[in-house]
Amino acid sequence: MSLVIHRLRRVDSTQAEARRLVESGRAEAGHVFVADEQTEGRGRFGRTWLSPVGGLYATFVVPRRPMLPIASGLAVLRALERFGVKAGLKWPNDLIVDGKKLAGILIETAGEVALIGIGVNLVEAPLEMAFSVRATGGGVRRGDLIVAIGEELERGAASEESLRAYREGLLTLGRAVRVTVEGGETIEGTAVDVDAEGRLLVETRAGVRKISSGECVHLRS
Ligand code: BTN
Repeated sequence: MSLVIHRLRRVDSTQAEARRLVESGRAEAGHVFVADEQTEGRGRFGRTWLSPVGGLYATFVVPRRPMLPIASGLAVLRALERFGVKAGLKWPNDLIVDGKKLAGILIETAGEVALIGIGVNLVEAPLEMAFSVRATGGGVRRGDLIVAIGEELERGAASEESLRAYREGLLTLGRAVRVTVEGGETIEGTAVDVDAEGRLLVETRAGVRKISSGECVHLRS
């Protein structure tokens, strides 16, 4: 399927713009919103996503389907790999290099579609705890990476193969983790697996917890 690309110079957030157009019937699955710069870029958990010129800020409008957090993390991992950029995943879908964040994904829904918001630090790491593609020694043109992500998102239907590939790229497995779930509960233990629903299995003193969503921190290397 070919993408319909909406190119924006400066926008509050590509998520917000995609939602406005979807809700007014002017965009649908297959559309992607790309901005040079965002003034109110949003991250997970209500955080700000710093969005200076030079990064990749895009929202892909896709049909809603199960396992999107896993499929989208894998899609960005594989798309970067095509250009020689080797990253790893932190559950569910942060892209990590050297323990620092290279890219992040925010998934929201709007009626029948999902909005997959992807931010990749291409040339600049706007925070201490961030990494950039340039710092990996690699380089990729924004437009090429968007096309590659679009292709990988289409390919990544939920399957045993994609779950296996996701697990292979998941740096979280085997690590001591702390996961903060909705409501503020924190769960500490060892991340032992991801199940067929994309849940993180954490072995704690009280047994194995299956976590559907939350913020995961790697505690030790
Ligand atoms: C995260 O790791 O917290 C998710 C970051 C997602 C950032 C992207 S940039 C494009 C899209 N528009 C936004 O406002 N946020 C997402």
